[in-house]
Amino acid sequence: MIDKQTIRKYDIAGPRYTSYPTAPNWTTDVNQDTYIEKLKVFGKTNKTLSLYIHLPFCESMCTYCACNVVIRKKDVKYAEEYLKYLFKEIDLVARYIGRNMPVKQFHWGGGTPTFLNEDQIERLFKKVAENFNIDFSGEIAIEIDPRTIDKSKVKKLKDLGFNRISMGIQDFDSEVQKSVNRLQPFELVREFNDWCRELKFLSINFDLIYGLPHQTKESFDQTLRNIFDLRPDRIALYSFAYVPWLKKHQNKLDPQTLPSNDQKLDIFLSARQQFLDHGYQAIAMDHFALKDDELAKAFNRGTLYRNFMGYTVKPADEYLGLGLTSIGFLENTFIQNYKELPEYYRLLKEETLPVERGKVLSVDDQIRQWVISSLMCQFKLDKNIFKEKFSISFDEYFAHEKEHIEQCVSDNLIETRSNLICVTELGKIFIRNVCMGFDWYLKQQGAHKRFSKTV
Ligand SMILES: C[S@@+](CC[C@H](N)C(=O)[O-])C[C@H]1O[C@@H](n2cnc3c(N)ncnc32)[C@H](O)[C@@H]1O
Ligand code: SF4
Repeated sequence: MIDKQTIRKYDIAGPRYTSYPTAPNWTTDVNQDTYIEKLKVFGKTNKTLSLYIHLPFCESMCTYCACNVVIRKKDVKYAEEYLKYLFKEIDLVARYIGRNMPVKQFHWGGGTPTFLNEDQIERLFKKVAENFNIDFSGEIAIEIDPRTIDKSKVKKLKDLGFNRISMGIQDFDSEVQKSVNRLQPFELVREFNDWCRELKFLSINFDLIYGLPHQTKESFDQTLRNIFDLRPDRIALYSFAYVPWLKKHQNKLDPQTLPSNDQKLDIFLSARQQFLDHGYQAIAMDHFALKDDELAKAFNRGTLYRNFMGYTVKPADEYLGLGLTSIGFLENTFIQNYKELPEYYRLLKEETLPVERGKVLSVDDQIRQWVISSLMCQFKLDKNIFKEKFSISFDEYFAHEKEHIEQCVSDNLIETRSNLICVTELGKIFIRNVCMGFDWYLKQQGAHKRFSKTV
């Protein structure tokens, strides 16, 4: 049982650790030249790839949204122009790495990838297939806004080779939906979910958010009843990242209508318990999966991995991001594209890779990245493996972190057993807090307002 006192103690601003070092520590020292150098090295290896494509357009702005989006009314010309430059980027990347690098994980995210029409979706998929060696038994996933799809488009996705679907739900309550400018009736989702089941996608994920305006425990209970009716294989239950200083449109939300911290916790704890009661297994803080879903199986085997696309069971050696704002990780270097469309277009017009910033990892970064990744994905850390990997003793290297480790032990977030650090059930909920103690940059700067709350 999780008590509110512990939650209050740990409910502080902190990173989500989809990367280490986290994005605020990346700089413009990494540019197109760095990227080309890394691409060339990578092109000479036999390594496998995770490939992410960002499709930024949405027809309207959901006022809670913290993703990188570009709002455009429905008109084929916007995606058409974007594809023209995206294809140029693919050609440029292929120029440096060759045309046949194997892709084990292929993910389309957004924005709303299904803003593209069927023909555009097909042309983009084929363009990638011509330039990379896509493993069709790997993870081929797409994020879908159920409001932007019909049966023919879902079928097109299946025919092309997509095998996993993730859909944005957030909340089914009509008052909540109205307040965040996202009207999405349950029947519409049910219909879309039925098509996906009919077409036998391997895994269906629903995104939910707790902490939205007008949400109450009772209203969210009703949303959950609807969810259990459809029984998705996976559920991501995100804490609402309220960051109006970063996302100006969130200022449209009336802060008075947000649930209090206590109410938010009640919603989270009740939802978590109901997922467990309905046969879902908790995977880290915000992910749940049915016990026979491969995510749950990988979690139990200790073979779960995490990258910008979330948790995955098909880890690749390196990541490549294509499209506006996308992120790659190649040869120990993070590389991020520009976030503004005009700049992205301008550079590609000049045959320049549109890199804005990134980070070349130091040895210390790599060591801490490994530690944080072990804790986030395996929920344990084996000091013997650490020593084998880095030829240093964990206890000596992390002497300054001893206090943090002891604090986590006394708060029952971790247990130490001979050479193992094991994250407890409670610690899985507060995994971000456990990791924060190993974040060198955070120690220098403090966890200030740039991050959302950890719970
Ligand atoms: C790119 S969007 C999903 C795809 C599609 N655009 C849609 O909305 O259905 C990815 C997910 O991020 C989550 N998200 C967006 N803004 C968020 C915020 N401020 N706090 C927490 N989660 C957020 C939502 O759950 C959303 O489904
Ligand atoms: S939640 Fe999805 S549909 Fe809404 S603005 Fe964000 S990316 Fe677009």
